Amino acid sequence: MQVVGIIGSGYWGKNLVRTFNALNTVNLKYVADVSADSLELISRNYPDIQTTEEYRAILDDDDVTAVVIGAPAVLHYEIAREAINAGKHVFVEKPFTLDVGHARELVALADEKNLKLMVGHLLLYHPCITAIKEQIQKGEIGDLYYLYSQRLNLGKVRKDENALLSFAPHDISVALHLMGNSPVSVSACGKCYLQKDIEDVVFLTMNFPDNKIAHVHVSWLDPHKIRRTTVVGSQKMIVFDDMEPREKIRVYDKGIEKATEYGSYGEFLSLRDGNIFIPAVKMAEPLMIECKHFIDCIENDRVPVSDGRNGLIVTQVLDAGQKSLKSGGNPIMID
Ligand SMILES: NC(=O)c1ccc[n+]([C@@H]2O[C@H](COP(=O)([O-])OP(=O)(O)OC[C@H]3O[C@@H](n4cnc5c(N)ncnc54)[C@H](O)[C@@H]3O)[C@@H](O)[C@H]2O)c1
Repeated sequence: MQVVGIIGSGYWGKNLVRTFNALNTVNLKYVADVSADSLELISRNYPDIQTTEEYRAILDDDDVTAVVIGAPAVLHYEIAREAINAGKHVFVEKPFTLDVGHARELVALADEKNLKLMVGHLLLYHPCITAIKEQIQKGEIGDLYYLYSQRLNLGKVRKDENALLSFAPHDISVALHLMGNSPVSVSACGKCYLQKDIEDVVFLTMNFPDNKIAHVHVSWLDPHKIRRTTVVGSQKMIVFDDMEPREKIRVYDKGIEKATEYGSYGEFLSLRDGNIFIPAVKMAEPLMIECKHFIDCIENDRVPVSDGRNGLIVTQVLDAGQKSLKSGGNPIMID
């Protein structure tokens, strides 16, 4: 049984509390938050959980084996570092850290102390992303050429992070996962309309080895609510639309092939416009899969899918994206 403390029970932290509390392998002993209102709500709904305004009370308790951080992004590094130094396994929400050096330090620290460090890249635990990855690995779509995703909405405007930091970690982590590789360079363009120096809309492009490319469009200032990823391969194309209540994935047997023998330019490219296939995907709540995975990694000494190293690469991409944004869209090489 893992004894867990959750730090930060705001909008997203409440979901973490609900989910970890539902796991029978977890004793959710504490929730910490600086907001008395948040804690009162937790106490009302979960009378057995101890609440505290001081998160260090959790770190000081030797019974606690793991800490879950749902506090604002600016606090992730500091709280995660203290928690690892206190000997706790750590699950930290995305964005992992706001600084590449901090991400590197946390990865090294967790390695040194032999503790699990996992980042909340929720979409990597989405059954549809798992299904798409399987299709790619089985060679169903042929060569993966390129992919792009859109995460658009009206609202949830943040004041301490731009739309890139707030939304793109999910899509970047998915792009890295599906590509099975890290990008060599990143460029990004975006604009601030509502607040000074906080981009409301960002278009980010990642260049991968072997002529592959991934594009991410994020915005909280958009009339549409879209959460869609499109993957284009040499044989087939896949669209994952997370706004669809069911049948979220469509596999299009479409493509354009170069004919080996042809008499005219018209015959040089042959278009294949075949069937559309809807794979049956057994749905489960991604957050539940993610939280179970964290506990399973602790109990069975496994490496989390979204471990600190995965978090570090996503942080490097975000950092390069931020630098590119400020330079007006110049490509930034990834180390
Ligand atoms: N995985 C996802 O899909 C997802 C979705 C939304 C948010 N998030 C991430 O979760 C984190 C929190 O986001 P949110 O939307 O819940 O923000 P929020 O502002 O609603 O909640 C943050 C909470 O942390 C508390 N807090 C602040 N300082 C604290 C401290 N020193 N000790 C303890 N608690 C403290 C605040 O009082 C607040 O209740 C962010 O990193 C965000 O990016 C992840």
